[in-house]
Amino acid sequence: MKNRKPLLGALLLGGLLLGGTAQATPSGEMLGNTCSGCHGTHGVSMGPASPTIAGISKAYFVDAMKAYRAGERPATIMNRIAKGYTDEEIEAMAVFFSGMSYEPQQQKFDAALAKKGAVLHKQFCEKCHEDGGTSSEDDAGLLGGQWTPYLSYTFEDFKAGTREMPKKMKKKVEELQLKAGDEGLPALLNFYASQGK
Ligand code: HEC
Ligand code: HEC
Repeated sequence: MKNRKPLLGALLLGGLLLGGTAQATPSGEMLGNTCSGCHGTHGVSMGPASPTIAGISKAYFVDAMKAYRAGERPATIMNRIAKGYTDEEIEAMAVFFSGMSYEPQQQKFDAALAKKGAVLHKQFCEKCHEDGGTSSEDDAGLLGGQWTPYLSYTFEDFKAGTREMPKKMKKKVEELQLKAGDEGLPALLNFYASQGK
């Protein structure tokens, strides 16, 4: 009996503290507003080095922010920005941005290269990057209609090994290299640019 009271007190206090932090987390929308300078007011980036993040999958967003925060994903600016957010705040923003609809960017592209890229995408990438890479439902990031400069920097990071590719994707990228050589990447980039609406 003697120990009951302190335990109960601790439980109550713990509950209050937890409730307190949950309430103190600003909404995803409020937090997300601070991103609009680079990612656009509705997560649709005005480009070209900042990716569009509206319609990004929730799991992908959370992984990306945590990888930036931990310094595990190469970045020019996001590593510094991500350090300012707690797990709860990242979750709240993930719900906010993943709830928006994705708007593929219209960009210039070479039609002949895009046609080659469409065939390569279908063979090597579509399995995980569905609908020409315009869907992030598979937690794999947005490619179709994403800004070309952002995508080419990203490929450089993958190639240099500073950003790690998922194992199965790496295998497909190697197969792509065998089949298309150095012409594969420009073809794919033009195909993704052709997915704007
Ligand atoms: C000063 C410009 C700037 C601001 C402000 C900014 N970002 Fe970024 N963001 C970038 C750039 C540039 C990249 C590409 C990585 C890099 O170079 O840092 C990026 C990449 C990202 C990515 C990766 C997307 C993908 O497809 O993999 C996410 C997620 C992201 N930002 C979320 C946010 C959130 C959330 C905020 C607000 C809290 C924010 N950013 C604020 C410039 C910015
Ligand atoms: C087996 C599934 C799979 C296949 C096949 C695959 N990918 Fe991916 N891809 C992923 C996953 C998962 C991620 C997210 C990795 C992460 O969180 O960093 C990703 C991320 C990416 C990104 C980064 C997106 C961003 O917004 O930063 C690019 C670019 C990309 N893939 C291109 C390709 C290309 C091109 C192909 C075909 C040659 C391909 N992928 C094939 C699963 C796959």
